[in-house]
Amino acid sequence: MEIKIAPSILAADFGRLAEEVSAISEAGCDYVHVDVMDGRFVPNITIGQPVVAALSRVTETPLDVHLMVDAPERYIEQFAAAGADVVTVHVEATTHLHRTLQAIRGAGARAGVSLNPATPLSSIDWVLDDVDLVLLMSVNPGFGGQTFIPSTLPKLRALRELLGEREVEIEVDGGVVVDNIAEVAAAGANVLVSGTGIFGGDDYAATIAEMRCRCAPI
Ligand code: DX5
Ligand code: ZN
Repeated sequence: MEIKIAPSILAADFGRLAEEVSAISEAGCDYVHVDVMDGRFVPNITIGQPVVAALSRVTETPLDVHLMVDAPERYIEQFAAAGADVVTVHVEATTHLHRTLQAIRGAGARAGVSLNPATPLSSIDWVLDDVDLVLLMSVNPGFGGQTFIPSTLPKLRALRELLGEREVEIEVDGGVVVDNIAEVAAAGANVLVSGTGIFGGDDYAATIAEMRCRCAPI
């Protein structure tokens, strides 16, 4: 599957968010990854629907909205209406996962499901035909700038196997940087989220180009 680079705006300068999002779009990213945190499912609080709506007016790049929120089903309509192209919920945060995924598609967005590092793949066994994207967390969610957890690599390979021929994107989020992106892609991920790995440098276009180059099959 085509490699997609998804900068996480959690590491952007929030005081200049519109400029930052324009800059990564012009730098050639494929998704803008938006981390929504509720201070309950994860310790931090970040941003919500009004910011997603504002960003959708600033960029044409698809918005990949990662809800780290308890009972995310309460907000699906609102995020889809705000312009989210992908809405991803955590399997640990929603009791009726199947219904939640259907609600995302029903609201006109693509449906994503995310698993924390300790959550087994078997938790999504019976929704594989109801998702457009599976997001494996490679850090415990809540903060940017953490170190990639190595057990994500065999988990990615197992997920690729589990999905079989399905056209489902595999996204990895947390601690992905230029130096490890090749092995993450080789393990089966096609959507690579990177926050500090992109916004931490000065030349977004060069970093994104280098990431793409490292993911290219040899
Ligand atoms: C973690 C977030 C990630 C994070 C990635 O809770 O979901 O998207 O911002 O940031 P880095 O790439 O800095 O680990
Ligand atoms: Zn994220």
